[in-house]
Amino acid sequence: MNNESNKNNIDKITISLNSENTINTNSNINNNINNNNNNNNNKQIKLTSGSFPKFKTVKQYSNIHNFFNNYNLKLKPTDIFFKSLDITNIPELINLHKEWFPIFYGPLFFTDLLEKENIISLGAFFSYNNFEYLIGSIFVEFKIEGDGERNYVPYEAINLPTTDKLLCRKKELGYLMLIGVVEELRKLGIATKLLEEIYTKIFIKKPNCDGIFLHVIESNLPAINFYTKNSFTKIHEMSNYYDIDDINYKAIVFVFAFDDKFKRKYKCIINKSKCSKFLEFAKLMINLVFWSFKTICIVCSICCSNSNETVETNDTNNSNNYLEELNIII
Ligand SMILES: CC(C)(COP(=O)(O)OP(=O)(O)OC[C@H]1O[C@@H](n2cnc3c(N)ncnc32)[C@H](O)[C@@H]1OP(=O)(O)O)[C@@H](O)C(=O)NCCC(=O)NCCS
Repeated sequence: MNNESNKNNIDKITISLNSENTINTNSNINNNINNNNNNNNNKQIKLTSGSFPKFKTVKQYSNIHNFFNNYNLKLKPTDIFFKSLDITNIPELINLHKEWFPIFYGPLFFTDLLEKENIISLGAFFSYNNFEYLIGSIFVEFKIEGDGERNYVPYEAINLPTTDKLLCRKKELGYLMLIGVVEELRKLGIATKLLEEIYTKIFIKKPNCDGIFLHVIESNLPAINFYTKNSFTKIHEMSNYYDIDDINYKAIVFVFAFDDKFKRKYKCIINKSKCSKFLEFAKLMINLVFWSFKTICIVCSICCSNSNETVETNDTNNSNNYLEELNIII
């Protein structure tokens, strides 16, 4: 969790869109979900978030919960897809982050995150009646050693390879600012998948990235378990890092230093996708050449057959003339 206010397991998800109801697909999610709010079956579900201190209750802000209640959604893993976030997602990002974190992140905060060159983001979505619903998100900011950070950045957890040391390469880390998944779809591997997808984006943007780190409030056991399960290790504690309703809380700093094997794995994934894009392009070009060649052949054969016909007619005319001539002689 960022302190600035201002799965593999994905196969486990068994969601199929069972509802026979239809929803008005307006161009914005809030209108869309607000229509569902008029439905009488609305129930307020109990929301939880490990990042909230015990005394603070988690309130419902996003209408996606009513949508889940009213439409009895059952999603398949293939219904969930991951893509970059953009400004159209900001209203829903604000609502969901108010449920996930006790710190308010407003429109300017998200606009800034989405515009910054050194921040990458990803959303998990599902689509229903041609409308995309946001169900999870992740934001990562890049940090480079020596950039004069005002906060502690655990560069010491990184051991550069000797060649990089000799080349005086600066250490690069990704800072996992925020991650969250909508209450109803937790413990299904969506956050794990968000992490995996963001690693690919990290290596595309910063091929030298050495690892990823984050702050988590000490009481957030679901998140601590989640990071531990995903190869993060606790490296540091920062007392009084969070100030929530004038009470200070300790933050735990977790780091996942990418080793060579891990970097190779993601570079392979990126190369494969580049390769498959290249293969697709090559296939397209071959098809294009093949069809152009075939078209040329067809056109040529049509032309040839036309000219043969003309030659044949000329021949017949000639022979007729010859016969006529012969007749005359006879
Ligand atoms: C933390 C959070 C993002 C995890 O999302 P998720 O989609 O449920 O995570 P996954 O399904 O990928 O979980 C993978 C592993 O994390 C651990 N984990 C996740 N939720 C857990 C929970 N409630 N209790 C214990 N362990 C949990 C488990 O080890 C789980 O593996 P398992 O399912 O094989 O037991 C989600 O709980 C959330 O959005 N919380 C609110 C926001 C937040 O606290 N963000 C982190 C801020 S630092």
